[in-house]
Amino acid sequence: KQRVLTGITTTGTPHLGNYVGAIRPAIAASQEENNQPFYFLADYHALIKCQDPEQVHQSTQEIAATWLALGLDSDNAVFYRQSDIVEIPELTWLLTCQTAKGLMNRAHAYKAAVDANRDDGQDSDFGINMGLYSYPILMAADILMFNAHKVPVGKDQIQHIEMARDIAARFNHHYGEHFVLPEAVVGEHVAVLQGLDGRKMSKSYGNTIPLFLPEKKLKKHINKIKTNLLEPGEPKDPDTSTVFQIWQAFATPEQTAEMRKAFEDGIAWGEAKKQLFELINGQIGEARERYEALLANPAQIELELEKGAEKARAYAAPFLAKLREAVGIRKIG
Ligand code: TYM
Repeated sequence: KQRVLTGITTTGTPHLGNYVGAIRPAIAASQEENNQPFYFLADYHALIKCQDPEQVHQSTQEIAATWLALGLDSDNAVFYRQSDIVEIPELTWLLTCQTAKGLMNRAHAYKAAVDANRDDGQDSDFGINMGLYSYPILMAADILMFNAHKVPVGKDQIQHIEMARDIAARFNHHYGEHFVLPEAVVGEHVAVLQGLDGRKMSKSYGNTIPLFLPEKKLKKHINKIKTNLLEPGEPKDPDTSTVFQIWQAFATPEQTAEMRKAFEDGIAWGEAKKQLFELINGQIGEARERYEALLANPAQIELELEKGAEKARAYAAPFLAKLREAVGIRKIG
């Protein structure tokens, strides 16, 4: 079986970008007979950028409820919280000792933080913690702990998966073939979903459309998507429009072709946004009800996660024992 693995950082409320980039393809993959899915809540990753304990906790609950509401079958999938798997931080250390410092210097997230400091006239490492710097190693441990073959993610994460491959290859080179080299799986139209302001939809830009907003708020958010000033009747360019890009991520190819034509025929922005709202709302309406019911019942979510942790550790513990042995950490005699 092919092991498919992905995680979401527990720092905020899941948004349309997380959904189309990671959750939707992951749930689709989990329904394929040949796949063994591992999906998790990346709460250790959250600590790197969020020092608000209540937010980490609340987000963990919301993201767990999102997966379950969207139909994740937790009997088939291994669904867990990263911090419940004590083997992961230990593997992180084994991998840290195989990771070139220069590789981490090239990580986009770290480089972006350094560049931002330079732009602000600050010392280049100002405010950057070691968690951010070695973030890709923790992520490599997430993936390699379960020897995942495929990792469905948005485009922003591809570099991290490539780094996981590098680190795995280095470990294999020194200690024998222990790790599968993982591959990123990135959907075509959803590689980077745009947010309200046209930049990448991201918690850190504050431009997200949360997935399970109540209907009225969803409508309001969609109405806030930035558009140019073209009037009804004026032809609009679908390829530079956020409304169209999000449409494409939810629509069938036929619906996308129709909307392209409507843009060229000068559809009013109000009308295009109304149709976008209806399209999204139609696809997530039922899941939203399940989501709200789950949030009202945290004990049920906790139970699912504990069951998942047990299954995940049944895999992780013997594998880590083998890896410890491989690097020479074993009993004397
Ligand atoms: P995170 O929490 O930033 O995002 C979770 C997933 O959502 C995708 N995504 C998007 N996809 C398309 N358009 C967007 N605007 C958009 N915004 C976010 C991300 O690509 C990601 O797939 N480091 C990861 C979490 C993680 C992980 C892992 C993922 C930790 N360990 C191991 C895979 C495997 C992260 O911060 O994702």
